[in-house]
Amino acid sequence: MILFDNNTFHITNGKISYIFKILRNEHLGQLYFGKAIKHRNSFDHLLVEKATNLAPAVFQGDLDFSLEVLKQEYPSYGTGDFRDPAIQITQPNGSSITDLIYKSHVITKGKSSIKGLPSTYGDNVETLEITLYDVLIDVKVILKYSIFEAGLIRSAEIYNLGTNPIKIDRVMSASLDLYDADFEMITLNGAWGRERHIQTQKIVKGIQSISSARGASSAMHNPFIALKRPYTTEQTGEVYGFSLIYSGNFLAQVQVDAYDVSRVLIGINPFEFEWNLNQGESFHTPEAVLIYSDEGLNGMSQNFHNLFRNNLMRSPYKQKARPILINNWEATYFDFTEDSILEIAKTAKNVGVELFVLDDGWFGNRNNDTSSLGDWSVNLKKLPSGIKGLAEKINNLGLDFGLWFEPEMVNEISNLYKTHPDYVISTPARKKSYGRNQYVLDFSRDEVVNCIFEKMYETLSIANISYIKWDMNRNITEAYSCSLDHSHQKEFFHRYILGVYSLYEKLIDRFPNILFESCSAGGARFDPGLLYYAPQAWTSDNTDAVERLHIQYGTSMLYPIASMGTHVAAVPNHQVDRCTSLKMRADVAYFGTFGYELDLNKISTDELGQIEKQIMFFKEHRELIQLGDFYRLQSGNYYSWMVVSNDRKTAILGYYKILAHPNPSLKKIKLVGLDKNSEYKINTFINQKLFTKHYGDELMNCGLILETEFTGLMQAENFTGKYTPGTDKGDFTSQIYILTAE
Ligand code: DGJ
Repeated sequence: MILFDNNTFHITNGKISYIFKILRNEHLGQLYFGKAIKHRNSFDHLLVEKATNLAPAVFQGDLDFSLEVLKQEYPSYGTGDFRDPAIQITQPNGSSITDLIYKSHVITKGKSSIKGLPSTYGDNVETLEITLYDVLIDVKVILKYSIFEAGLIRSAEIYNLGTNPIKIDRVMSASLDLYDADFEMITLNGAWGRERHIQTQKIVKGIQSISSARGASSAMHNPFIALKRPYTTEQTGEVYGFSLIYSGNFLAQVQVDAYDVSRVLIGINPFEFEWNLNQGESFHTPEAVLIYSDEGLNGMSQNFHNLFRNNLMRSPYKQKARPILINNWEATYFDFTEDSILEIAKTAKNVGVELFVLDDGWFGNRNNDTSSLGDWSVNLKKLPSGIKGLAEKINNLGLDFGLWFEPEMVNEISNLYKTHPDYVISTPARKKSYGRNQYVLDFSRDEVVNCIFEKMYETLSIANISYIKWDMNRNITEAYSCSLDHSHQKEFFHRYILGVYSLYEKLIDRFPNILFESCSAGGARFDPGLLYYAPQAWTSDNTDAVERLHIQYGTSMLYPIASMGTHVAAVPNHQVDRCTSLKMRADVAYFGTFGYELDLNKISTDELGQIEKQIMFFKEHRELIQLGDFYRLQSGNYYSWMVVSNDRKTAILGYYKILAHPNPSLKKIKLVGLDKNSEYKINTFINQKLFTKHYGDELMNCGLILETEFTGLMQAENFTGKYTPGTDKGDFTSQIYILTAE
């Protein structure tokens, strides 16, 4: 519901209220964002006008009305507010001061999409569009707010109505001034192989920010920040979450001012960004998501999950259980033949796998990573039946077939580079940097995007391909496009990502049933923007079960379980050389799309038997896991998380121990999300042993007391000196518990 009374907007979905008003100077002032509060015809008392006489005053003699102090809705620099602004526009005379005055607003049912950008949608949504206007430069800014059940979406659109060209230097998707600074900021940071680890820090006066200038959202920082109260836990307390539906350079920052107001800004990174607008042209920002929860971090995460699943992903798979796949990358790397692929596929089919994915190395002369990107035609030496023939053979085994592409890239050793060296991103007269021996194609140019589309289309139109893994293995350097003149070069990064989106759009339009999985050297472009096109993303190249605990725990902060690509790989693990049990590897991978990435012909019959059981288990429970409500319970040396079905009749708990310690304490976990009155039968997987039976209220308040851990040889073996190793002992153990309401 969106209400307008007494110059005040109150946006609410019954759970949150977002309130701001038209101030005396006709700018917009922020009043409140938090748990829903009753509507009243005036919230003026929430606006505290109080400044020192040193602060710049808007009205003569009215020292209290100063933009330096007031909380604002979409601030600009230069008329009294000295904090970082949401918008900055350079005008022909060199000035970048704007004075955006409220003009009008409109409230509508529904929500429109944004041309060329990913955007949220839904039936049960209301939208407020407020027009602000700067009379001096004839520029209109439309602030857009759409309220969904799960949260608020914001964006801004700038129109140049005047005859003079203008240049946008900075345009945030959302700006929010929060009343105080008693917050800790959570960010998801990392690098290749250790993406989205949770970092929590107390916010302090000044600016704290994360950003990307790599041309992609990146493994280093995810376009997300949360501000939680110091006392907020996974299950209780207040938290604000902000994310950006965008896959390119971003900025997310919090600035605490002298009066402890916390200003949150999120949008396209202003660093290396400019956008020119001539008369009649407009620019639309990506959408920002604003979530508030007073039910802890899980409350925030579930709102993100629901919003992304219901109102952002478009794929026919968005509400469907995902196929269990086997990917040949860690099984063969570049070293495969049609026969070796079919051998893996046959065994995979026998144990219950549903989809075979052929990874890198199927095209051109690609036997290592130095050549052939850009030449998307099959290597007949390796695959004599071609992709069409191989897909048929795989289909005949009873498996679907999926294929790897890296559409945005080209190697110097390739036909594409020979014919079109100009398609590569490079700065004239400067050396080009390599990244994994490859260059990035200039996707800011339509002809380049079209050329790659045609090449992909050739394969996709003849072979029965039901899945595409879209990889992207390097970031952009020497950013420059030969198609842009000097005054438009800083538009390049945004234009590039629009090109990526347009290729996705073309492919989806032509092949609407293909399941896309985005990937970027693992999880370096795992962001909400790509979820619009690809409902799942490869979470990390790190397939080690222990490392995946940290990565998946962090990723679940905002991304739904069904969006996380999770595979069981071989041991010793190829990224950290660690050995973990097949059980633990699967117990971790169940909480994702689930699949395998190893040569099933190189493992023992016993292990193959275990895999068959794992797949049976997953098929039985994947709807619950992928579409249920996910809760994080604990992290550290012990990790646990659980999913609960929408009707709360079944739940699955994953419990993991990293390192064993002697003589450990008893372990008890408080479960969440259950029906307090139902009695749950609790089984363990894999041996299906009946563990225990308890009521939901006991499990949630008293907790589930777990089996005692191995306490050490001295006690356990009663000094006999006989020691029997077991999969439940030692480092790296795990247990899956299945709860079923009687
Ligand atoms: C990086 C991806 O993350 C891997 O899964 C694999 O597809 C390789 N690229 C192939 O080059």
